Amino acid sequence: MRTLTVCMLLGSLGLAAQHMQDEDKKKRNPAIGNPAAIAAGEKAFNEGCAVCHGQGGMGGRGPNLAHGRVMWHTLSDEATFKRIREGVPAGGMPPTPGPDEKLWQLTAYVVSLRAPASESPQPGDAELGNTLFWGKAGCNECHSIRGKGGKIGPDLSDAGGSRPSSVLRSAIEDPGSNGSKGFEKARVTLKNGGTVEGVLKNRSNYSLQLLDAKGELHLLLMGDVRELAVAKNSIMPSNYKTRLSAAEIDGLVAYLAKQTARPN
Ligand code: HEC
Ligand code: HEC
Repeated sequence: MRTLTVCMLLGSLGLAAQHMQDEDKKKRNPAIGNPAAIAAGEKAFNEGCAVCHGQGGMGGRGPNLAHGRVMWHTLSDEATFKRIREGVPAGGMPPTPGPDEKLWQLTAYVVSLRAPASESPQPGDAELGNTLFWGKAGCNECHSIRGKGGKIGPDLSDAGGSRPSSVLRSAIEDPGSNGSKGFEKARVTLKNGGTVEGVLKNRSNYSLQLLDAKGELHLLLMGDVRELAVAKNSIMPSNYKTRLSAAEIDGLVAYLAKQTARPN
């Protein structure tokens, strides 16, 4: 009987400790997620960091701080702060002097670059983005969301839950900038003179599959192929930045930011 009580007591102590740990994790520096601090951090970043990390942290001499794909590694807030303060002298990242407040503003900006778009404030009009996506901009010809739309490009049902805003924006303004792996554009010339264009899906020594813009899958035997040209650029139109206004692109980013696979 007594052992049972002790066990129950220890059990609830364990739960309490776990609860405190969870509470602790939520205690972030007040600069993190604070729009004013992020804006101040962005200004300092453009002055002192963009020379190496690129505009918007998209990479240059220093690494891309936003990263493109779902599984980008993330440093904790504290580790990011420490990395900025101390630098990585051996790796070419200088230490950053200055008061803690300024360093936390920089940290808040860097953290905001890689936070999922669904959790970041969006300046754009998501309703406008919705209209454009399924209308004038024609995004739905290649992309699907929750089972509707085209299949030639990646599914965007979790675009906002898995990508930072900066990555969504650069995917629209500069297609292929995050890499086109799995979606390479290819053009095949057949020995009989015909040509087929599309996204290269599967390729072996004997055959290849091309998904064309109509969503039709072509299985071609290498024996019938005279030439296979794989393009470096994306199949996604590269002129959205001139075809759409800044407000329209903001709207598309805001609309995509709302797409998450996680139930609310
Ligand atoms: C002279 C070029 C240079 C400047 C200026 C610079 N960095 Fe870096 N930074 C680098 C390099 C190179 C690395 C990679 C170092 C390594 O890990 O070997 C890096 C790494 C980092 C990392 C760690 C990235 C990760 O995910 O591991 C952060 C965060 C960072 N820098 C932020 C900043 C901030 C904020 C500033 C401005 C205050 C800044 N950097 C200025 C070159 C630079
Ligand atoms: C002709 C087909 C096509 C059209 C039209 C198109 N895309 Fe894409 N999109 C692609 C392909 C293919 C990729 C895969 C990566 C690459 O090649 O750039 C892609 C990648 C993306 C990504 C990155 C997805 C990821 O996995 O990171 C986003 C976001 C995106 N497109 C949004 C849009 C939006 C918004 C529009 C409309 C304004 C649009 N696309 C129009 C074909 C298209």
